[in-house]
Amino acid sequence: MKRLVALAAGLAFVVVPAAPAPVLALPDGQALTPPMGFNNWNATGCAVDEKLIRDTADLFVAQGLKDAGYQYVNIDDCWAAPDRDATGRLTHHPQRFPSGIKAIADYVHAKGLKLGIYTSAGTLTCAKTMPGALDHEEVDAQTFADWGVDYLKYDNCNNENRPALERYTKMRDALKKTGRDIVYSICEWGQNKPWEWGAEVGHLWRTTGDITDTWPKVVEILKKNAPLAPYAKPGAWNDPDMLEVGNGGMTATEYRSHFSLWAMMAAPLLIGADLRRISPENLDILRNKEVIALDQDRLGAQGRVVSQVDGKWIFVKPLANGDTAVALFNENAVATRIGTSAPALGLPRRPAYTARDLWQHKDFQTAGEFTAVVPAHGTVVYRVSSRNWWSAEPLVSAGLELGESIPGIPAQIVPAGQAFEVAVSATNHAVLPVINPRPRLSVPTGWRVEVLSQQRKLVLGSGESVSGRWRITPAATGKPELTSGVDYGGGSVTSTTELIVPPETPRGTSPLGDVPSAWESGGYGPVERDMSNGSWQPKDGKPLTINGTVYAKGMGAHAPTEIVYYLGGKCSAVTSIVGIDDDRNDANKVGSASFEIWADGAKVADSGVRTWRDDPISITGALRGAKFLRLVVGDGGDSPSYDRGDWATPALTC
Ligand code: GLA
Repeated sequence: MKRLVALAAGLAFVVVPAAPAPVLALPDGQALTPPMGFNNWNATGCAVDEKLIRDTADLFVAQGLKDAGYQYVNIDDCWAAPDRDATGRLTHHPQRFPSGIKAIADYVHAKGLKLGIYTSAGTLTCAKTMPGALDHEEVDAQTFADWGVDYLKYDNCNNENRPALERYTKMRDALKKTGRDIVYSICEWGQNKPWEWGAEVGHLWRTTGDITDTWPKVVEILKKNAPLAPYAKPGAWNDPDMLEVGNGGMTATEYRSHFSLWAMMAAPLLIGADLRRISPENLDILRNKEVIALDQDRLGAQGRVVSQVDGKWIFVKPLANGDTAVALFNENAVATRIGTSAPALGLPRRPAYTARDLWQHKDFQTAGEFTAVVPAHGTVVYRVSSRNWWSAEPLVSAGLELGESIPGIPAQIVPAGQAFEVAVSATNHAVLPVINPRPRLSVPTGWRVEVLSQQRKLVLGSGESVSGRWRITPAATGKPELTSGVDYGGGSVTSTTELIVPPETPRGTSPLGDVPSAWESGGYGPVERDMSNGSWQPKDGKPLTINGTVYAKGMGAHAPTEIVYYLGGKCSAVTSIVGIDDDRNDANKVGSASFEIWADGAKVADSGVRTWRDDPISITGALRGAKFLRLVVGDGGDSPSYDRGDWATPALTC
């Protein structure tokens, strides 16, 4: 009988691959929408104290975050004393939390907020500064309940290789036994497919390893978490980790994408920045109530990917009131047009729709296309309904698209004195026509601009486009950005495109680490100079060392890394010693990467896969005539974990 059921379930899985076997959520009525709050880890690591928690609770109220829905103020690792007390209970760390956790819980509760805490399903927590709860589940759960804790993040470190399901279930039962409502966050990093069992054990489960304040990491996590959409539901959520918005490692556009995509994925929204230091712009991202409403929608559907082609993503999320959220996400490093339509989204047929732009806070009328020119790494989010479309202004997608560039070289790198062409186009998606549309472009002062064509139309009907082409010659002066868009009778659309005018390359032979690059993207925080790539923070590496040999000069580059230099055809060769840095976790003797040198679109040197065991080798790439040099560190065919690549004593000859 059991077999038959399993067989039937298997069959159902084959027929409808999107539907997981039904796993019920915990029937305790908690976390019916994804938890919202704060956790200090991303901002402070172990440097947590009671002042930070009190200040955060104060700021939740004073800055309108409580009003926006943020509720849980959560303490991460390092809050406890290193040893249990005589009765076997955890106690607060005497310096970090001198008043004790109960007093902090009381303080937070008095503000109408809730308190969260952290421990690990292991002998010690991840930072190893305090005991974990393994084999102490009941006493620890009871201690938390006695203090008035409302949320537990239960980590996975030092778990003695005992089965995850057993460890996490024990804590579920211990929490239940206390009789207190405690939201239960499973943090086992997606190692044992918690989406398949997490709903019966906790209210949310991490689906990946730790987030960092870097764009590649956000995209990596997105790609792992998005396909898990069928597993999310009220009371049971995929957790792609806490927010990095405001921590400083990404642009405002990237933070808006991070926030939009987490909301579309019905992720827990746990602020990870120190609110005492956050910029007003980033605070406003966190307070965008219209985006929060998508996350908190009571239908509880995680948005799913409708299509993902060439870095152009379309997400759709059905909402409880019948509206539909649509996100257009541009993974690429240049602005691009992204669009979808009512039939592609499965929307009911209507004469027209209202697409409310949740970052511009404006309603637009559309006959059924949902399109925008989305900036590099940007996300446009529409809330689509069929209400009041007749009074909304026309949806006109307009913007600039940069022409083709050399493969691998970001198109926004525009060397001074070298003319390039751009097109600005505008399309009217509304039912009603748009009058007298004029595409326009403006360039920084000191740059030359020549109009190649500029279409004029008296009336732009539904679905029609106008465009213009310009030839631009950049100069080394002026803020390198282009402002483009369209003006029409009664309205306009404007956007800016940031460009990079690369620095000149020095003559002679130079240590490449001292030559300014045009553009770079590190896999784990910034590419370092004259040190290894420690973690995601800047300048936190050790001396560059490959199998015991120390190098004073060079670059520490964690896979996947790309570094681009503008050569302007003036250089002849680059040579470097390469290998995996000795800065690796001894317990994890892993790490492999490949080192490639590219001259424009051609690969001119390749180290092959180098592992943590290998001695350094030297590679040389011929560059004669090349406009650009690109250094690539690949992950060696496995995951990028511990792939700290070194370019040791690299030298460029021009
Ligand atoms: C693990 C978790 C993080 C954080 C740290 C604390 O890495 O995944 O979110 O809690 O431990 O040490």
